Amino acid sequence: MQEPKVAVVTGASKGIGKATAMKLKELGYTVVSISRSKPEVGDLIYQADVTNKDEDFRIINEVKEKLGKIDVLVNNAGFGIYGSFLETSLEEEEYMVRTLFLAPLYFIKAVLPDMVKRRNGSIVNIVSEAAYVASPKLIVYSASKAALAHFTNALWAEMKKYNVKVSGIYPGPVKTNFTSHYSFKNVKESIFDKYAVEPEKVANAVVKAIRSGKREIYVSSKLLIDPYFLKLSMAMQNLTYYVVSKIFD
Ligand SMILES: NC(=O)c1ccc[n+]([C@@H]2O[C@H](COP(=O)([O-])OP(=O)(O)OC[C@H]3O[C@@H](n4cnc5c(N)ncnc54)[C@H](OP(=O)(O)O)[C@@H]3O)[C@@H](O)[C@H]2O)c1
Repeated sequence: MQEPKVAVVTGASKGIGKATAMKLKELGYTVVSISRSKPEVGDLIYQADVTNKDEDFRIINEVKEKLGKIDVLVNNAGFGIYGSFLETSLEEEEYMVRTLFLAPLYFIKAVLPDMVKRRNGSIVNIVSEAAYVASPKLIVYSASKAALAHFTNALWAEMKKYNVKVSGIYPGPVKTNFTSHYSFKNVKESIFDKYAVEPEKVANAVVKAIRSGKREIYVSSKLLIDPYFLKLSMAMQNLTYYVVSKIFD
């Protein structure tokens, strides 16, 4: 019998991470769940803050000792701060950048050498549509996601020859606890609540990413123009890639 695949999911206590942990368990994965509050779903549970680099490496080493390998890493933990850059707290923004951008780097650094050695593995980063929309009131959030998007795209290219799959998932609004952060308290019912999709839709996209290794997977909202808007941004981005690659050829 084939031994179960091992998947590590960060931010697994709620929302997209919890739905992903549940989906992967359903598919027979041994799931390692990480978040600051205790995750309910998972075979190995870690209560940890992903911004703690030493702790992230310690967890990954312990998982490898206990389970022998890591097949899938889903970098999902995150939160957003809403507000004008004039008014938001720099300390909180630094913490957000560490959560959204540096933590995925720590986890990937920790799992990648083994995946390359085995010529097998999948890394899935939960990015966001915000990566392609420089969003006022979510400035540092969208900039952090843009950094993660660039990182993901470049790593995808580097890892191809090692058969390690790298994908970014780009959801629009999703029905999770995301807007329960205190900074959203004065935001009225918005496009967010109205057109948001269920987190299970993003979990299905994660499974698609693991199977296909597609560089970018979009999970559009119920807003009718959303898919067109995304296709347009993608077309623009691909055009930029093409032009830049010609210039630096
Ligand atoms: N909801 C959306 O509309 C949307 C759209 C696009 C992208 N995303 C992205 O999707 C990801 C998941 O967000 P969500 O919407 O599912 O929100 P959520 O329901 O609030 O879940 C966020 C998860 O991340 C964990 N987390 C946050 N900071 C952490 C830290 N420093 N260390 C460890 N765990 C941490 C939270 O657990 P604890 O609080 O217990 O630590 C929770 O499990 C985020 O990266 C977000 O940017 C969300």
